[in-house]
Amino acid sequence: MTSYPVPAPSADGGAGFKLLSVFLGLVVVIMGSFGLWLALSAQHAADRAATAKSAATSMPGMDMTAQAGRATQSFAGAAPANADSLAMAHAAYPATLPAAPAGGVANVQLTIGHDVVSIAPGVKYEAWTFNGAAPAPVVHVRQGQLVHVTLKNASPMPHSVDFHAARVAPNAAFSDIAPGASKTFTFRANDPGVFMVHCGTAPAFVHIANGMYFAIVVEPANLPHADVNYVLVSSEWYLNKSGLDGAASLDLVKAEQMTPDWVTWNGYAGQYKVHPLTAKPGQTVRFWVVDAGPSLNTEFHVVGTLLNRAWLNADLVDAPQHDIQTAVVPAGGGGVFDVKIDQPGIYPFVSHSFASVMLGEVGLLNVGNVPGTMSH
Ligand code: CU
Ligand code: CU
Repeated sequence: MTSYPVPAPSADGGAGFKLLSVFLGLVVVIMGSFGLWLALSAQHAADRAATAKSAATSMPGMDMTAQAGRATQSFAGAAPANADSLAMAHAAYPATLPAAPAGGVANVQLTIGHDVVSIAPGVKYEAWTFNGAAPAPVVHVRQGQLVHVTLKNASPMPHSVDFHAARVAPNAAFSDIAPGASKTFTFRANDPGVFMVHCGTAPAFVHIANGMYFAIVVEPANLPHADVNYVLVSSEWYLNKSGLDGAASLDLVKAEQMTPDWVTWNGYAGQYKVHPLTAKPGQTVRFWVVDAGPSLNTEFHVVGTLLNRAWLNADLVDAPQHDIQTAVVPAGGGGVFDVKIDQPGIYPFVSHSFASVMLGEVGLLNVGNVPGTMSH
């Protein structure tokens, strides 16, 4: 550490020298702290590089060798010249809640694969998927049904499935299965709500960030009637390149820093702006919302109305709250929200954490089939 010469105190300038000494002492402390911070930062960067390297060797299919502890640039909003026509041609993820099976047993077949998916117009991503999509198609069961899960791993590495709706020993039901292997397990869907399902193989963070999630609706018998039911899954995407020329894969550092390139409803930026959800005036529209994360919450808000009923945290056992402006759906959680809109128009639904809107998490509910569009 550099030392600073301090003049000897003299009879006439004692107070001034004391002040100067205190000041210089402070400088030494600050410089010392800065040096320590530099050393710790360097050590931290080295640790991260080592972690990224070991992750690269332990996770086939992921190239993280270029990530020596530093995130790539942002690719937010990257779009080809024909983005509009690509968005139009893209078949929107079916948000409509499918019918639940009749009888006492609900069979859920899941095949795990590694597939290239589109996450925005012209943007491709090397995803890890259930049933070929991120999110996988919605599963709908009735409260009390026995859910019989068949999981098949058609990918080149171990994966698993974790149902938040289940009360089962996870070390058995949610355990990894090897490439080519299959397993079955059951759970009784006793708890109503809308729940996240995801791959729980370590690091679950990476498996979720790569697209391994979907929503399961466990519908109770006693909910007030809804005319239309839509399921929305929020998630973030962290890209190591734009995905415009060849599929991107995960930028682990960006994911750790929670700086996504895209945030989507049902896996594709802005898809319900181009292909709006619809309702008739006066209908009750129920949104079953899951936030898959992996890390950011969703602040669910419908522009131009309030949430008439809000079952926060998808708690369908207790009474809902009423007339809510914005409801938090936590990462790894759900919420059920009813709106009843009488006036025809175009009503955007967003995460009111508006950075997410800029990154693609905005859709439109067209009430009454009115012409036009709306940005927000
Ligand atoms: Cu997995
Ligand atoms: Cu979980």
